[in-house]
Amino acid sequence: MRSLPKIAATGISAVLFGILGLNQGFAADAVPRAELLASMCNTCHGTDGKGAKPMPSINGEEPADFIDLMQAFASGEEPTSIMDRHAQGYTEAELKLLAEYFSKQ
Ligand code: HEC
Repeated sequence: MRSLPKIAATGISAVLFGILGLNQGFAADAVPRAELLASMCNTCHGTDGKGAKPMPSINGEEPADFIDLMQAFASGEEPTSIMDRHAQGYTEAELKLLAEYFSKQ
């Protein structure tokens, strides 16, 4: 029983290292960072953000408008059912990468 927390901690560390490794090491070489970030969005918004009904498409927007909208979601200025939580998970630099990526899709 005493070793359980240790096992849990090891497991959590492994997961964290996995995520960090994916972000910094693997992703930098194999998958461009913007594409990796966008893949999270595409699970709902369809391939390349082109919409998967009933989800809205998010491709082809002006990057500045896209960033404004994401920041309005994050601050709660623009009420949403889901996007407020998603929008809070990204830094300004990541939002810029996403905005540029989806503007070209
Ligand atoms: C769990 C599903 C889900 C994921 C994942 C998701 N979204 Fe959304 N998104 C929605 C829904 C649902 C809406 C409609 C607004 C609402 O109810 O939140 C939306 C709306 C949007 C809109 C506004 C579209 C419009 O025309 O009004 C943008 C922009 C957007 N999402 C960007 C993103 C980005 C960027 C990501 C990845 C960082 C992302 N979404 C991830 C579900 C999701």
